Amino acid sequence: MGTQAAPAASEIAAVGVIGAGQMGSGIAQLAAAAGCGVFLLDSDPAALSRAVASISSSLGRLVSKGQLSQVNPLASPASQIRAKVTPFVDISSLAWSQAACDDSVKRIKCVSDVQELRGVDLVIEAIVESEDVKKKLFVELDRITKPSAILASNTSSISITRLASATSRPSQVIGMHFFNPPPIMKLVEIIRGADTSEEVFSQVKSFSERIGKTVICSQDYPGFIVNRILMPMINEAFWALYTGVATKEDIDTGMKLGTNHPMGPLQLADFIGLDVCLSVLRVLHNGLGDNKYSPCPLLVQYVDAGRLGKKRGLGVYSYR
Ligand code: CAA
Ligand code: NAD
Repeated sequence: MGTQAAPAASEIAAVGVIGAGQMGSGIAQLAAAAGCGVFLLDSDPAALSRAVASISSSLGRLVSKGQLSQVNPLASPASQIRAKVTPFVDISSLAWSQAACDDSVKRIKCVSDVQELRGVDLVIEAIVESEDVKKKLFVELDRITKPSAILASNTSSISITRLASATSRPSQVIGMHFFNPPPIMKLVEIIRGADTSEEVFSQVKSFSERIGKTVICSQDYPGFIVNRILMPMINEAFWALYTGVATKEDIDTGMKLGTNHPMGPLQLADFIGLDVCLSVLRVLHNGLGDNKYSPCPLLVQYVDAGRLGKKRGLGVYSYR
């Protein structure tokens, strides 16, 4: 296999993020705030415009609360790394201010051609949760990126081993699962595929820590750790609604006040995206073969109707 030594975490200076939706925009923000040059790619130009607006607003909120230091270890040697893409800013000398936020945004280059990612050290894929679509992208990434580049997927559930098998460098393919919203949620779940090298695992772990995250490790099982536990709860909330146990408001209030969750499960499903929830449940159902993961018909119907949640203005609730 034509692999080369992957870059050390401290040498990860240029990052490609593919998919500029809810997750990709937040991941690009984290990498840029840590001093990396970022290429943010989406097939939809409108998604790129929305991503830049949301990154600017999120950085502004974090800096106004003095919370940016949590995601930007400015004092660490990693922050001295010079981004290999232009525009270049040496963030080590900057205090976090609105100007520093603006500089982070400038480190993000929005692109529409995957060829632009040929020089990056790490790619984090955050496109639609479909194995076929992701595999096609991994084939292309394998062809285009330099041999030493690490190819990571932010998939919520899909086998990393199968994504890696689409490439000629399975030892450099890994799952890097962020949580929504990435700038706020402190976790990254790392998933080794069958052939992921220890070196790549430790580089991705160090990089995740460099951008301020706590790391947990999962074997390559459907839904990994968190979604295997979270999605059945969300699905059960849909069953409770579907079978008339209670109103959506009472289901959510019950779980918020009764179990101290920040959001009720139906509100959380809207926040995640009902399409993502359905895709994850289908991967769990197909992969683990237990009917308890079978998606509730109401969830299926909402997705069929285009009610994808907050991102589309309508899901279980209306956001219009
Ligand atoms: N950038 C910067 N700041 C943000 C932000 C963002 N993207 N999103 C929220 N915030 C800040 C807000 O400014 C606010 O700050 P203050 O409290 O200082 O005002 C704070 O976070 C809380 O935000 P809001 O007041 O707007 O709303 P909230 O209190 O409901 O909090 C939330 C929002 C942090 C998202 C919270 O509701 C929450 O933790 N919800 C659960 C999220 C969750 O479980 N995510 C995981 C989903 S599963 C997953 O991601 C995996 C998968 O594969 C599907
Ligand atoms: P999203 O719908 O908000 O964004 C996906 C983006 O990918 C869209 O802007 C779309 O235009 C773009 N895209 C689709 N196919 C593409 C392609 N072939 N090339 C380039 N761009 C393409 O989705 P999201 O919620 O950000 O989820 C993205 C990924 O992250 C999925 O794999 C999902 O399972 C995972 N994830 C989602 C969450 C969540 O809470 N939403 C949490 C963790 C992981």
